[in-house]
Parts: sequence; structure tokens; C-alpha cells
Amino acid sequence: MRAALLVATMIGVTAGSVGAQTALETPPVGTLAQIMRGIYFPNSNIIFDTQMRDPAAPREEKGADGTVSNTFAGIYTGWQVVENAALVLAEGASLINKPGRPCQNGRLAPVQRYDWLRYSREMTDVSWAIYQAALEKDQEKVGELTNDLAQACDNCHEVYRSNAQGASLRCLGSGIILPN
Ligand code: HEC
Repeated sequence: MRAALLVATMIGVTAGSVGAQTALETPPVGTLAQIMRGIYFPNSNIIFDTQMRDPAAPREEKGADGTVSNTFAGIYTGWQVVENAALVLAEGASLINKPGRPCQNGRLAPVQRYDWLRYSREMTDVSWAIYQAALEKDQEKVGELTNDLAQACDNCHEVYRSNAQGASLRCLGSGIILPN
């Protein structure tokens, strides 16, 4: 009886965890452009800033205007800010690769294309390398890697972010589509 109960509990736990995993799979909410503006753009800018300023240097005080952002602006500082930005970019691939994500023009983001996956993989790899360099607080290395980061953005944009014809050609590449 006891053994049976244990087995049942174990099955329950397994089924439960699979169920929980599925429940966390939320459908995409924003367009790809919104993810780019909200996540890729601000976080890559934090990393690009490293070329011009030492993340460890003390920050200028933000004016006390009572906003929450300015009040807490000094809580996370230094290299940790760069580390976090790099991690968000590395993890960002799972957001831009979410099936069903629309682009601004209504097309679906081409997440099943082989080259798209390669470009987003490049983003993850370079962001991970930046994260490692940020842990080492190596400003020169992060500075060098920002070139690779900009290149990783450009490589995908060249193919998939066409501004031709009022951006109606965006998200329309000619790469190989992988089977489901
Ligand atoms: C795997 C492909 C891919 C990668 C990598 C990528 N982008 Fe994008 N990006 C796109 C596509 C496609 C669009 C157009 C989205 C749309 O129209 O909905 C876009 C749009 C944008 C936009 C919005 C432009 C507008 O219309 O306002 C910004 C900003 C942007 N990307 C920044 C970046 C930055 C910065 C990086 C690198 C850190 C990056 N992207 C990496 C594919 C990519």
C-alpha cells in the first residue's frame, strides 16, 4: 500500500512538473520590434557604453525628482549592471524565438528558419562572452566584444530587418525552413 502510494506520488510529481512547465509557456504578447526596443536596444546600449566609460567609476547622482527609477538608480551599480545586461541579451534569444511572435508588419517572426536560429545563437554566444568578460571586470575585452555584438545585430538585421517598401519585407528571409 505504502509502495503503491509512493509510486502514485512519484507519478503525480512527474506529471505535475510537466504540467507546470507547460503552464509557464505563455504565448507571445509583443511584436518582435517591441522586444527589440524594450530588451535588446536598452541592454545593448548599456554594454556599448563600456567603450566610453569604466563601469566601476562612480556614477553621477541622478536628480531627486521623486520618480521610482531615479530614487533606486544607485542600487545596482558597477560591473553588475553590465553583467545583467549581457545575461538578458543571452537569454533574449528564447524570447525572440518564441513561436507565434508577430513582427510589426503582421508576418510571423521567422523562428523556424535555419539562418534566423544561427543569428540568434550568435547573439547568445557573444552575450555570454561579454558576461564572462564583465565578471573579470575587463573593460578592454568587453570593448572589443562590443564589435562582435554590433555585428551580431547587423547580421540578422541585414537579412530580416529590411526597411524597403514601408518595412513590409521585414521578417521575410530566404533561408531554409526547418521542419517542426
Ligand atoms: C535574429 C535576428 C535579430 C537579431 C540577432 C537582432 N535583431 Fe533587432 N530586429 C530584428 C527584426 C526582424 C526586426 C524588425 C521587427 C519588426 O518589425 O517587428 C528588428 C528590429 C529592431 C529594432 C526596432 C526597429 C524599429 O522599427 O523601431 C531595434 C531597435 C533593434 N532591432 C535592435 C537590435 C539590437 C540592438 C540588436 C543586437 C543587440 C538586435 N536588434 C539583434 C531581428 C534581429
